[in-house]
Amino acid sequence: MKLIILILALVSSILISSCSTDKIELSNSDKAVSEKIDSILALMTLEEKVGQMLNLGLPALLTGPFYSYRDTLVFDSAKVQQLLVEYGAGSVQNLGSFPMTPKQWNQVIEFVQTTSKAKTRLGIPVLYGIDAVHGANYTAGSVMFPHQINLAASFNTKAAEQVGAITAYELRASHIPWNYAPVLDVARHPMWGRIFESFGEDAYVASQLGAAYIRGQQGSDPSANDKVLACAKHFIGYGASYNGKDRSPILMSENYIRQVLLPPFQEAIENGLLSVMISSGALNGVPSHIDHFLITGLLKGELGFKGVVITDWGDVDGLHAVHKVAANEREAVKLSVLAGIDICMEPYDASFATHLIELVKSGEVPMSRIDDAVRRVLYLKFKAGLFNNPSLYEVEYPNFASKETDSLNHQMACQSITLLKNEASVLPLNKKSRILVTGVSSNSINYLNGGWSRTWSGQDTSYNDKGKLTILQAVQQKIGSNQVCYAPGTGYVDGDFINEAVAKARPCDVIVACVGEKPATEKPSDIDELDLPEIQQELVLRLAETGKPVILVMVQGRPRIIRYIEPKVKGIVMAYLPGNEGGRAIADVLFGDVNPSGKLPYTYPRNSGSLWAYDHQLSDERDVNFGLAGFTPQYQFGFGLSYTTFEYSALKLSSDSISMTDTLKIQFEIKNSGTRNGTEVALLFVSDEVASISPAVKQLKRFERIDLNPQESKSIDFFLTASDLAFVNQQNQRITEPGYFTISLADQKARFKLY
Ligand code: GLC
Repeated sequence: MKLIILILALVSSILISSCSTDKIELSNSDKAVSEKIDSILALMTLEEKVGQMLNLGLPALLTGPFYSYRDTLVFDSAKVQQLLVEYGAGSVQNLGSFPMTPKQWNQVIEFVQTTSKAKTRLGIPVLYGIDAVHGANYTAGSVMFPHQINLAASFNTKAAEQVGAITAYELRASHIPWNYAPVLDVARHPMWGRIFESFGEDAYVASQLGAAYIRGQQGSDPSANDKVLACAKHFIGYGASYNGKDRSPILMSENYIRQVLLPPFQEAIENGLLSVMISSGALNGVPSHIDHFLITGLLKGELGFKGVVITDWGDVDGLHAVHKVAANEREAVKLSVLAGIDICMEPYDASFATHLIELVKSGEVPMSRIDDAVRRVLYLKFKAGLFNNPSLYEVEYPNFASKETDSLNHQMACQSITLLKNEASVLPLNKKSRILVTGVSSNSINYLNGGWSRTWSGQDTSYNDKGKLTILQAVQQKIGSNQVCYAPGTGYVDGDFINEAVAKARPCDVIVACVGEKPATEKPSDIDELDLPEIQQELVLRLAETGKPVILVMVQGRPRIIRYIEPKVKGIVMAYLPGNEGGRAIADVLFGDVNPSGKLPYTYPRNSGSLWAYDHQLSDERDVNFGLAGFTPQYQFGFGLSYTTFEYSALKLSSDSISMTDTLKIQFEIKNSGTRNGTEVALLFVSDEVASISPAVKQLKRFERIDLNPQESKSIDFFLTASDLAFVNQQNQRITEPGYFTISLADQKARFKLY
């Protein structure tokens, strides 16, 4: 009988011995696992070890050309034999090209598992990974939540945790135990096409929401049948390229990296993160995939990360083909593995494994590095529960795509929508009005969902879920179709149907102009201009000329510049990419069934030459007159209106000076001074008045959503300690300097001294 039996026997027995120093240091409860890993490792050949480091794209195992399948998948037995059996690929990822039902996913993954178990010598289970970035988006019928940027706009940590948990449940229902999410890139360039996948421009928001998402996804035991492994990405700087394009160079000091980009990853590791994906970009000239300092020094060393480091898609080949830091693929494999890569996401073939076997045989890559990588991979598989029950076939998932998750999804979309303008209280609209709904995003489920929705680009309409409403359909449902006119208006960057829209606007009372961005991610999401496409601006200007009030609804990940059209419209609703329930949520906000409570998770620029984040340095605010009026974004980070009003008062500090070991209590009153229920997101900023490194003008330190009935007041407490006031100094150490700090909460300010 096969060695599978031997492995299972080893796995089920608990052995106790001490760990040697070159191993992953495990917690006490993990020590038994460490022993099991040692036992398996001792049985493995070099080829089998390298196989565990290989992560294949599913299409590499299928018949026919890549991504040519529409509704069935056919495994190619020769490819399966070669890649899964002979090379013994340890993990497989991605979809064939169409979203499969949980049942189809079960069949596919069961085939992969049983083949690997039955036909490889050791029968080590395969780890299946997927990008489930707003729900289990590649499983047909799953809940598709708003994207991460919407979660950030809701400033709702609990919602991020719930999204993580439901995504994990629906992934397990699909048999998938490993999720390439969340994105923890701090989005520092407004042009970046993947902003919608991030938690926005602030490190603290990304840290808090990212950690919550990971807790929801992994729980205390990722092997549970409703939990999965998280993979935070993309380490590091991917959302901060110098030109705002995808996979472009990042030019950045180590100081800035530690101050702004690292905290979300650090927080995630402290919250049990088990895998990290590396950024495809080059940081200060060094592609991160070969950056030993970054992967082995900083991530695995300094941050003490015990999990697996995986490359991004085809990025080892990219070291030779694009980055030009390796003379050939062989050298690329060598450099990346020596830098600390544990798994190579090699979508197409097993050339990574062939090269790596040779490199170990020739002594260019030491066996100890391979053992370290394989230990980490096996550890991940144990954590996913694969050795106990590789497939969990018999488990039922009755809550998959349930009514409750749909309603939660709707609530999350509602909480994220951000009201940016409401001149003369034009909103909420009267349900008796006659409305023209127009614009490229007005009648599209795909625009609401964006990229990573049933397909990678999210553009294929044939996989849209039945029963989900576009903005137009939701408005029709709410006020009756006979009161609603529709005209497409424009395409994304072309398609001029403006005359028709203007003609249809004339008999209407109000115009709802829905603009936005065509679904896309990665390279296809690159843009050359941040301005909203000209044709869409033209539509808004022409509609405004009718004299009817125009409400602009923006369905887009990025803050596309609207400087020219903003003065012409009466109301502006930012929906970001609100997901499958987005149409309903937008209609609810437009007609006042929901009071908007989202706040911008990034600075909304006015001009494409002024792209600063809110936590810039004061010198960024210098203007042409040498004054300090040079920071004039369209909307500030954290901006967002409500249909009610809130008053802040009585900001009080527990002391006007604290020591390095004290805790400062910050207390304030908040009142709903209007006439309807509302939720305010209170944002507490701190400004370090003077520091040895020019400080940010302010930094977000705490936030909270506060529900208030009309005329209700609440007293809120926040607490800060000296560590909240720390920054990274010139020697790249995190330190706290004594001095004066200012707290600001809306219009309230208070000052204290740290000694
Ligand atoms: C990509 C993306 C990454 C994703 C991976 C697998 O190229 O950059 O975010 O997880 O492919 O699909």
